[in-house]
Amino acid sequence: MHQPVMLEEALEQLAIRADGIYLDTTAGLGGHTGAIARRLTTGWVVANDRDPVSLELARRNTADVADRIKFHYGEFSTLDEALRENGIDQVDGLLADLGVSRYQLTGAERGFSILTDGPLDMRMDQTKGITAAELVNYTAEKALADLIYQLGEERRARKIARAIVRARPIRSTQHLADVVERAAHRTGRLHPATQTFQALRMAVNDEQRELDKLLELAPGLVKSKGRVVVISFMALEDRKVKVKFRSLQQEGRATTLTRRPLRPTEDEVATNPAARSAKLRALEMN
Ligand SMILES: C[S@@+](CC[C@H](N)C(=O)[O-])C[C@H]1O[C@@H](n2cnc3c(N)ncnc32)[C@H](O)[C@@H]1O
Repeated sequence: MHQPVMLEEALEQLAIRADGIYLDTTAGLGGHTGAIARRLTTGWVVANDRDPVSLELARRNTADVADRIKFHYGEFSTLDEALRENGIDQVDGLLADLGVSRYQLTGAERGFSILTDGPLDMRMDQTKGITAAELVNYTAEKALADLIYQLGEERRARKIARAIVRARPIRSTQHLADVVERAAHRTGRLHPATQTFQALRMAVNDEQRELDKLLELAPGLVKSKGRVVVISFMALEDRKVKVKFRSLQQEGRATTLTRRPLRPTEDEVATNPAARSAKLRALEMN
């Protein structure tokens, strides 16, 4: 069973109204989308994702409330089009549950996983863009080290980049994990390649720029008194959300509802370890 992260908190912060219109920018497997839709009578949800395979799964998982949901395939930069296509200017609430889903992360064929061997892909949308294999095999050593350092916040980035370049061509996720593990020995609980995989995933999917785009568009997509709720899993992302929310408040355009980010309960983390690092921030547009 798929457990949407911080579901109760997200629904509460979105202040769902039965006749409201909502935009789930990251439908994933449809966990949040379905829960929102089930609270609606005359309202509806536009459910967006850049991964066409996930959208299909979301559609299946929310079949009981299909009449309340309109699906849209696209990146954050297409969100205004997602609304326009459905004849909407603005919504009562916008949700973003960032990153990759369990389904994407654990499917060996998607190439995100350190633990199962698969092709080095890592694209959320497998219909376009460059793969992680292309990135690790063709990027210059210095640029690769910078990328792993900045996006993975990995202090051993230079050593890792050197080892990757020497071992080229890197053939699979397991091959990459082994090369990194030999260069950067295990120090804690995490697999030594965790941050390298994170950095590559963020680069392949241009996640930083995508988040900037989302934060730039969101205020214009939400009505006055409407809510923006963002769940992030990485410090780099939470920082961007915090800074944007603060500047919207300073400009008098919005009011922050969460001075500090909300965190999942201990119960939730116990049943769903994927929620461990989640931080939820909410904003109301003035
Ligand atoms: C953590 S999952 C969402 C899970 C979902 N809330 C649920 O309960 O099933 C994040 C989803 O956002 C999508 N995604 C990430 N970045 C995106 C972007 N820039 N544009 C559109 N979708 C994106 C991913 O493809 C993934 O399916």
